[in-house]
Amino acid sequence: MRSHRVTSHTLRGTPRALLTASAAAALALAATAAPAAQVEVLHYWTSGGEAKSAQVLKQMLEKKGDTWVDFAVAGGGGGNAMTALKTRVVAGNPPAAAQIKGPAIQQWGDEGVLLPIDDVAKQDNWDHVLPPEIATIMKYKGQYVGAPVNVHRVNWLWINADALKKVNAQPPATWDDFFKVADALKKAGITPVAIGGQPWQEAETFETVALGVGGPDFYKKAFVQLDPATLKGPTMVKALETFRRIKPYTDDAQTGRDWNLATAMVINGKAAMQFMGDWAKGEFTVAGKAPGKDYLCVAAPGSGKAYTFNVDSFVFFKVKTPGVEKGQKDMASLLMSPQFQETFNLNKGSIPVRQDLDLSKFDACAKKSSADFKAAGAEGALVPSWAHDMLVTPAVEGAFYDVIGKFWSDPAMSAQEAANKLAAAAKTD
Ligand code: GAL
Repeated sequence: MRSHRVTSHTLRGTPRALLTASAAAALALAATAAPAAQVEVLHYWTSGGEAKSAQVLKQMLEKKGDTWVDFAVAGGGGGNAMTALKTRVVAGNPPAAAQIKGPAIQQWGDEGVLLPIDDVAKQDNWDHVLPPEIATIMKYKGQYVGAPVNVHRVNWLWINADALKKVNAQPPATWDDFFKVADALKKAGITPVAIGGQPWQEAETFETVALGVGGPDFYKKAFVQLDPATLKGPTMVKALETFRRIKPYTDDAQTGRDWNLATAMVINGKAAMQFMGDWAKGEFTVAGKAPGKDYLCVAAPGSGKAYTFNVDSFVFFKVKTPGVEKGQKDMASLLMSPQFQETFNLNKGSIPVRQDLDLSKFDACAKKSSADFKAAGAEGALVPSWAHDMLVTPAVEGAFYDVIGKFWSDPAMSAQEAANKLAAAAKTD
């Protein structure tokens, strides 16, 4: 039931007697309308493009008559947000909804604190529109507990079009091409690669290099099966050496830099390229940049036929406050609605997770992402991103972050030593 807010503007110019009567009537109506459910939402979408996307969700939820209580925790990749969430849950005061994805959904399910939303999923036919492997991630013991909002592709390379023109180069399809382009950019006085010196950004860049150097089968053996021989084998060593070869093409002020500030360097031509998931496209969009003209989106070298996916989703916590559940179910249904999926993803840089939408409003990068998602799925080259919580446990992910961060910053660590440490890190529980 919509509750209409009666404001002075609404009543301007009405005769006083009528004014009093209609104000009384309006107040009576407001009092009978269903109380707005306060839905507190934990998320970490605080950059320009992300915030605009979160605003879409807030506005649509409020159109349903519910109240969005923003619980935004800055910090790309969500590490800070997860810490804040644990504190709230331990205190017995969880938010109504939280941006949680991948295996962590099972861990929260084990805690018995999640609100099942299977009724919403059945009523809205989620099983018919979601890729099966994504539907599985959203379920705990066969019941939906997560509502997915998108498919982000991680293995992208974003390129400033003018910088590439300056060195008369083509987008690099192989790693040999990449380093030739990087050398030419360096000679032209342009920082070849923008990166933020944060563990998740270094880890994500390495994950992308490993996919391009070793291919999807290698990636699955190493990071899905956590096969020790593959983790410390020659292909992993080659991936680590290729990853570290990028370092001299990055700038010296990268420590602690947020990902979107690295993206801004490429947007403004301060750097030529960035390895980053397509939430980076949300920053180009907010800056009014056009793909194909101002910037290029290309699969990272060697990974053109592969696709690292990262699906954002929300889970809902059982809360004590009566009436919140209505807002939680409204939000779950809204997240998977065609209208939200289109508007949100146009802003977020990702593609809709429901497969029945027409993408004619989406740009060339999104259409390429969608085509590559389907092709990679058919070829067994669709892989979950471990750097973005889609694959290994948080403990193993953190241990991988540590190894890669140390390897990136310590030239004394050999690639073989780092590979051995990855194999050990995979055993973290
Ligand atoms: C990812 C998340 C994206 C974006 C990115 C940067 O983990 O899935 O939606 O927020 O971090 O913060």
